[in-house]
Amino acid sequence: MQYRTDIEYIASFNARQAPPVMNYAAALAGFDPIDLSRPFRYCDLGCGPGLTLLTLAAAFPQAEFVGVDFNSNHIRMAQARAEATGLKNVKLIHSNFTELKERNLPQFHFIAISGTLSWLADAPRDAVLDFMGSNLVEGGLAYLHYMVMPGHVIQPPLCRLASDYYNQLEGEPEEKVLLTKEFLKGFLNTQKRYFEVSPTAKDFLQNMINSTTSLFLHDYLSNVRKAYYFADMNQLLEQRGLRYAGSAEPFYNHLQLVVPMESRELFRGVRERASVEAIKDYICVTGGRTDVFCKTNRSAGNEKPLESVLVVALPGQDQNQVINFSGMAVRLNVDPMATVLRLLQTPSTLEKLYQHPELSAYPRHEIRKALTYAVAARRVIPIATPPTPVTTISAYNRDALSQVVTTAPDLLPSVTLASPVMGSGHCISWVDAVMLWSIVNYGAEASQKALEIMQKRNLALKVQTKDEKELTPQETMRLAIQNSVRQFNVLLPFMGISPHLAV
Ligand SMILES: C[S@@+](CC[C@H](N)C(=O)[O-])C[C@H]1O[C@@H](n2cnc3c(N)ncnc32)[C@H](O)[C@@H]1O
Repeated sequence: MQYRTDIEYIASFNARQAPPVMNYAAALAGFDPIDLSRPFRYCDLGCGPGLTLLTLAAAFPQAEFVGVDFNSNHIRMAQARAEATGLKNVKLIHSNFTELKERNLPQFHFIAISGTLSWLADAPRDAVLDFMGSNLVEGGLAYLHYMVMPGHVIQPPLCRLASDYYNQLEGEPEEKVLLTKEFLKGFLNTQKRYFEVSPTAKDFLQNMINSTTSLFLHDYLSNVRKAYYFADMNQLLEQRGLRYAGSAEPFYNHLQLVVPMESRELFRGVRERASVEAIKDYICVTGGRTDVFCKTNRSAGNEKPLESVLVVALPGQDQNQVINFSGMAVRLNVDPMATVLRLLQTPSTLEKLYQHPELSAYPRHEIRKALTYAVAARRVIPIATPPTPVTTISAYNRDALSQVVTTAPDLLPSVTLASPVMGSGHCISWVDAVMLWSIVNYGAEASQKALEIMQKRNLALKVQTKDEKELTPQETMRLAIQNSVRQFNVLLPFMGISPHLAV
């Protein structure tokens, strides 16, 4: 067995594989981004139950989305949700990656594989990489998430321990997982010597113990669980005509931000981008990589592509004025950063910032640095299109919210809404989704409906009042709904998600 199909994988939304994020990584490296205002094709390999695929399809109605998975339940679940929400731009393909060639799929502008590559044996892995080589348009972008060495080095012995224990048990998988977790807890609490030799293994073991049953089986107990050295993955892709563009995690693209001062000397004389990346993985000791590759035979390096990328500052951010990275701290309240952040409250591009009178005293490279560091600090995000006033909630987002009526928060900790502006999904907590669902559907009676849903789950809200007065559940919920309306009225229309919510 190379990958389980007997237990469904619990879905989560992966914003790193959203087209604007992949475009940003490519443009930062000097590759042309894909034009998101035009029709394009996107393929998600190992789409699972389709949360990421369908959310992106809802965010880009003019584009075509194809999901491939060999678990028929996943394909059925994704298909059912696509139909229920009226998505016409999604095609689901039940196939093993090893049979991709026979599926006669078209050329794509984006191909993504997330949470899957490291769990594939060599044959399906090669089939995936071949597909990227053959089915990406010239200039097309690939997203690959995989586990990486040396950060992964502590994991195999603990997965092996869990696997061996699990395999000698009898009973149903869920029951065996619980017993294996008990065993691991015992190990964690008693084995001082093991964790002296391998101190970071403790965090990993704790994550294993805290994971859901589905994740535990799919991730930690998989027969194949392979970490790659970046240099090897890079070579496999170069052999197929793809070049490394950058990380979908923007901060990871800036050596200055992630490499502490005392380690920078190690890069002296290292010229190749691939060699820089390989050494960086040893310094940052990350467990996984989220790489973006471009199908091209031309070298990157041109500064132009980044200038046309549309970006915007996120509203409602915390007030922290300094963001600490492992390499250096970024101050947000000194110019040109402070001005760039203020100007980006309305969507703009680097090209426009270069022309802006308020920034005329600064050289271009400083404005570029401010913008890219603001993105690295997640204060600014790349987006697909400027916001326009939205007056209706889409069928997809209405359906996404309605899940809170039937599903408890432990099974649905967050709800993902599709945002055509962000060209991505925006996740809100179960409680926020209860509020929004009630407001959208019940207007003036929203607080009554929200209270009913919360009470069904034995949950209650607490609101602090100035005079410390005890509030009834009804009064509390009315206040909570008013707060939510204020919060959503600022945030969601900006993201192109919701109608104006005056209740
Ligand atoms: C861990 S899930 C990742 C789901 C989703 N991409 C995400 O990031 O949440 C891996 C998915 O890949 C699928 N898969 C694994 N091996 C496969 C293969 N050889 N061919 C097709 N699908 C495969 C599994 O069925 C599963 O849905």
